[in-house]
Amino acid sequence: MGGIFAVICKDTRIPRGAIYEGLRRLTYRGYDGAGVAFLRGDLLEVRKAPGHIENVSKNLDFVNIDSDIALGHTRYASRGWPVYENTHPLTECTRRVAVTGDGIIENYEEIKSRLEKLGHVFSSRTDTEVAVHLLEEYLKSTSSRVEALLRVIRELRGMYSLVFLDSSTRSLLVVQSGQPLVIGFSPDKSCIYVSSDLPSLYGFAETAYILEEGTVGVISRDSIDLYSSISGRRVELEQLQAKRVKYVTEYVEKGGFPHYMIKEIYEIPEALKKVPLAIMEKYLRLAAMIIQGAKKVFVIGTGTSLHAAMISTYYFSELAGLSVNVISAAEFPYSLLESVETGTVVVAVSQSGETTDVITSVKQAKLRGAVVVGITNNVGSRLALESNVYLPIGAGPEIAVPATKTFIATLAGFLMLSSYVGVYTGKLTSSEYGGILNSIKDLADKLKNLIPDYDSKIEKLAQEVYEYKNMYLAGSGITYPVALEGALKLKEAALVHAEGLQLGELRHGPLALSVLGLLTVLIEPIEEQAKQLFYKVLREVENRYARIFTLEVTANTKHAAIILPQVERHLYPMVAIIPLQLLAYHTGVVKGLPVDTPPGLAKTITT
Ligand code: G6P
Repeated sequence: MGGIFAVICKDTRIPRGAIYEGLRRLTYRGYDGAGVAFLRGDLLEVRKAPGHIENVSKNLDFVNIDSDIALGHTRYASRGWPVYENTHPLTECTRRVAVTGDGIIENYEEIKSRLEKLGHVFSSRTDTEVAVHLLEEYLKSTSSRVEALLRVIRELRGMYSLVFLDSSTRSLLVVQSGQPLVIGFSPDKSCIYVSSDLPSLYGFAETAYILEEGTVGVISRDSIDLYSSISGRRVELEQLQAKRVKYVTEYVEKGGFPHYMIKEIYEIPEALKKVPLAIMEKYLRLAAMIIQGAKKVFVIGTGTSLHAAMISTYYFSELAGLSVNVISAAEFPYSLLESVETGTVVVAVSQSGETTDVITSVKQAKLRGAVVVGITNNVGSRLALESNVYLPIGAGPEIAVPATKTFIATLAGFLMLSSYVGVYTGKLTSSEYGGILNSIKDLADKLKNLIPDYDSKIEKLAQEVYEYKNMYLAGSGITYPVALEGALKLKEAALVHAEGLQLGELRHGPLALSVLGLLTVLIEPIEEQAKQLFYKVLREVENRYARIFTLEVTANTKHAAIILPQVERHLYPMVAIIPLQLLAYHTGVVKGLPVDTPPGLAKTITT
């Protein structure tokens, strides 16, 4: 699994740096290994090594690939350790065809043992390698690449995409079986690009075509032949959905910051300001009407997006008088999916729009008659394509694996949506809705000054607390999901075992561990009724001699590390999460960790 980026050119070499840059932009899909296969004359050459492309390329030079055809990959190690043998591209026995893959092939073990009996020798423990040996096997009985590919796609079960480099025909062979692949042309049409996503093509192609599930094809310098394995018919490019390739390059540079994560935290005010501009009112109105008229509303997402979804329940309830069910998209198919019927609305949230748990749940819900409202930061994503109506949060690309600015932009998206629904349900007036929009803009201005201040305070605090291996983070009311999100950031960026808790629940068991050696972070609730609880828990933790620090609005205790500004309840999660994001960042930095690319994680789980 990972990101695929391939190029084939006519009467010219592939542009210098194209493969490197394309793969670098795809590292959110995995960075456990990087490789490129290309033709030197007629011979297939493979350069690859485990690790992040930026390091791998220092030795193997992915910038200067002197060829007219190349196939690159950046890997997330889902099957097989991150070692040389398992790094893509992988080749078959004759080393004439190389393959890269994204996704998971479910039945690879049975196919592998069948092929081994036929004499194929495998060099990796990946699932993708079966695809190239299977193709080799079929090419023994047919010279038609399309026919062989159709047999491959019909045989391999799972959700995957594959791109082969076939040295005999000097072509790229593509298979889209549930994982994304797009095709774009350079403006002068001399080069054709194949990639796992649209933004990676920025600067290489202006428009790209999105391959549909079940498509196989042969891309040579002169032609593109695509076939649908479902209908068995030829597919013309013009029949496919075409999208403009958009990307803002300034976002992919670190702009003077040492890491993307801290740069993206500093971009929060700007991201926040963009949300009301990105979400067009006509789509917001449509989404709000759909939700208001729904029999049931489910909100699904995973990781950080799930925590944003949890906060949305407070928004929908307070601002629209609506009760919605929130559940992890990874759990949805085994629980609430059963109750999906016509009249159900699924609000699906994913910053990347590519998380497979979300896409799978959305597809299954649609089959049962649900209408899908998508919230995403990626307009060319599968979630955007699968949604009946989608709201783009417009936060700009986020490179660091730990999500920061997109969390806050997603909250702003939910805030707009829930308050618009509120106008329909009569809970809010139009001018109150306008007030909420303004409050988002005002908060962005406030945060511009607050973030540098939080940053320097938390940097000092991190020097003091970085050695803690265990942490509790507790909140109540609308800050409970903030505690969960803070704990997730600490796991991702600082590799700390951090647990998010409800303040009240901390007293029911977890307190037993609250002793020296465990750091407890308490977030002062915004809800008046919960403030007493905050002080009560604080005293109980103090009595255990645990190390405590707090985020407070009223600054009543000696433990206050950060004084949060007085804001409306719906904005409070946005201000409370930032110190925790910074704590995760600085703790990771003090510990010398690769905060942007935590080991073993990917920005998006695409299988
Ligand atoms: C992965 C990442 C998390 C992220 C989650 C959801 O699990 O490790 O950091 O929050 O995916 O990503 P999405 O793109 O769907 O919001």
